[in-house]
Amino acid sequence: MRKLVIMGQNELRGEIPVQGSKNSVLPILAATLALDGQSCIENCPDITDTEAACDILKELGCKVWREDSAVIVENSGNNNRIPEKLMRKMRSSVMFLGAILAKCQNAVISFPGGCELGPRPIDIHISSLAKMGAVFKEEGGYLYCACPNGLRGAEITLPIQSVGATENIIMAAVKAKGETVILNAAREPEIEDLQNFLNKCGAKIFGAGTDRIIIEGVKKLSGCCHRVIPDRIVAATYIMASAIAGGKCKISQICPNHMNSIINSLKEMNVDLTVEQNSVIVLSDKKFFAPKLIRTAVYPGYPTDAQALIMALCCVSKGSSMFIESIFQSRYKHVSELCRMGANINVEQRVAVVEGVPMLWGANVEATDLRGGAALMIAALAAKGTTVIDKTEHIYRGYEKPEWFLSQVGADIKRIEEDEF
Ligand code: EPU
Repeated sequence: MRKLVIMGQNELRGEIPVQGSKNSVLPILAATLALDGQSCIENCPDITDTEAACDILKELGCKVWREDSAVIVENSGNNNRIPEKLMRKMRSSVMFLGAILAKCQNAVISFPGGCELGPRPIDIHISSLAKMGAVFKEEGGYLYCACPNGLRGAEITLPIQSVGATENIIMAAVKAKGETVILNAAREPEIEDLQNFLNKCGAKIFGAGTDRIIIEGVKKLSGCCHRVIPDRIVAATYIMASAIAGGKCKISQICPNHMNSIINSLKEMNVDLTVEQNSVIVLSDKKFFAPKLIRTAVYPGYPTDAQALIMALCCVSKGSSMFIESIFQSRYKHVSELCRMGANINVEQRVAVVEGVPMLWGANVEATDLRGGAALMIAALAAKGTTVIDKTEHIYRGYEKPEWFLSQVGADIKRIEEDEF
């Protein structure tokens, strides 16, 4: 078990380049199953979720290896079953379903791993694929899926703009017979990245980034090289880390236009940001006004993945802020940990109210989930004294070497193995 030990109140100065997007690379790796030959996915973050996705591809018979920041996948073998051990490692493993169906016409997966964000059903994935001709049977914790007459195009209206369901339908539809239309599709930049990758491989997908996506099925797709987009949530993490710690940092290799709602909220808080084409410069005197309302929403609204991050900043802002978490039922587990550090936050179901306090204090805390853990890192940079974050395996699911990037710009942060502690 690794812990992060952070001594707060050091200003940050320098540049932090941002890794490739976790939520882009996971569906793109899954999509390689639908392609013939070899694909080279560049800018692949070195995080445990990527490792888990590579392990699933290997289990399905592919050859997978890393060359610097690229992951190469050679599609081979015809296995169609993901064992429970691998499914549990990562909820997003459900998105392999559409790709396995595109390749093998039938698939066996267990229900995806338990999740820290409240119940995360996959009913929309199942009902959408059923419209395309898939038949499901549940037995002994496994979901058996077959397409007796092959996959065929369909018009699918999503009841909610689910990111994963939109991606799963795209993957199933690329080689289906006929045209698929997704209405009320999710519009996240990661979906556009999946479209761009698959179109380079010969797919015919139009409209990703809007709520109407059209996919014309093709017979054959061939692997290609693709560079995944920068991770907008990791970018937001380092912007907020720089703001809360004070100093001057350039957060580089990012797409600021994927982050408008985050940048606007920070500007409302009086954080001094200079937005350039591929970077944001943060100049911080650590004096922030609390934003009145942070309501999470589907893209281009304020992302749920950045809710915990900005909450850390609100803890030390002047005034009070209201949060409404509209996407997940239970995404405030970081609150009790922030309160251990002296934050003043009250939660009632999906609403949280944060009263800014003059100072946070170092404490022993636990990362309760990926972004909650990142919020504790941010808070610890501002706190007086030492914070020890336990259960950091959640953080490493999505952040590549955070202790290295933050210490490069002046943070006092170390990763410690349990037996060294
Ligand atoms: N939902 C259903 N039924 C379904 C699918 C979703 O009820 O069949 C519900 C979920 O329970 C949730 C809401 O719909 O309440 C939104 O879920 P969505 O399907 O959009 O999320 P996801 O695809 O499971 C992706 C990201 C999450 C991010 C959400 C929302 C990946 C791998 N994961 O999850 O990222 O929070 O979209 O933007 O892309 C993270 O990176 O920390 C993370 C959790």
